[in-house]
Amino acid sequence: MVFCIKKIISLQIIDLLSEMLESSAKFLKCVRCGSKLELDVFKSDQEIDEGILECVKCNLEFPIIEKIPILWDDFSNYLSSRKVLGGKLYRLANSGKMKSFLKFSLSQIKLINNDRTALEERWSKIYQNNKSSKFYSIIKKNLNFIAKSKLVLEYGCSIGIITSSLAECHDMVFGIDRSFSALRYAKKSSKNNLDYIIADSLSPVFGKLQFDLILALNILELIEPLDLLKHISKQISTGYFVISDPYDFDRGTNSVKKPIDEDTLRTNLLNLGFKISSKTKNPSYIPWNLKLNPRATLNYKVDLIICKK
Ligand SMILES: C[S@@+](CC[C@H](N)C(=O)[O-])C[C@H]1O[C@@H](n2cnc3c(N)ncnc32)[C@H](O)[C@@H]1O
Ligand SMILES: [Zn+2]
Repeated sequence: MVFCIKKIISLQIIDLLSEMLESSAKFLKCVRCGSKLELDVFKSDQEIDEGILECVKCNLEFPIIEKIPILWDDFSNYLSSRKVLGGKLYRLANSGKMKSFLKFSLSQIKLINNDRTALEERWSKIYQNNKSSKFYSIIKKNLNFIAKSKLVLEYGCSIGIITSSLAECHDMVFGIDRSFSALRYAKKSSKNNLDYIIADSLSPVFGKLQFDLILALNILELIEPLDLLKHISKQISTGYFVISDPYDFDRGTNSVKKPIDEDTLRTNLLNLGFKISSKTKNPSYIPWNLKLNPRATLNYKVDLIICKK
């Protein structure tokens, strides 16, 4: 592996990225039919603040609110489990066009008792309070040895602790998460080569685009592990995959259907054609102490695998 030195991005790339989200939009695909998206900007400064990405084929519309594109197959469905967020987005919206888009979407929502807004806001705060955790510096150290890549993607990036540090090393970096609250915080430290998208990790946000490096840190409890591995494997023909997890699957009804352990994870990666780096062949126990409040801390021991095709 080549040591990654922070490089000055070539003038050509700076030119391409100066329009930021407009350039990101070229990478994104309709999550329902895989077709291209067309951009309709309502409000922009240096970045696109508000607008709609519309599928050229099925005409599905994906809003961009507060510079964050929401690529959910059914936006009303996204809001159905986040009604409180729906109201907040309506208040945040500047343009009349966005307000009426939101009003219509809110009128279509289904009645679901469980609102995720407060939960997602709470976890976003917890990650903000833990961003200096030693766990992340250990992960960053491990990532330093991966060669400078053109296209990088992090699934379940939350507030972007690792995503934003990756943007210091690599050409173009994307973070995907389903939490608006987390990505709104992540967007505060903006970089020309960094963008965040609200989407389900298993949806085809980038179509058939191939990445040089993909990360999935501590998300196997929330996203069906085998589906996620297969999905990610299809996005890497030559490149690295970095995955970490504490295998904390005991979550009652919220558990994934097929939990995985340190050995089955390695076997599955090998079966998908990945070669595991010699130093992560054996399971590791990296401490991750996640302070929830002044009286409670989760003390995880996290396994890390760096593999490549
Ligand atoms: C346990 S946190 C890990 C955050 C970060 N990777 C880290 O290690 O600090 C899981 C994250 O995955 C996101 N997430 C859960 N299910 C998701 C899904 N289906 N699609 C996209 N993001 C998801 C959550 O919103 C949350 O930010
Ligand atoms: Zn479409």
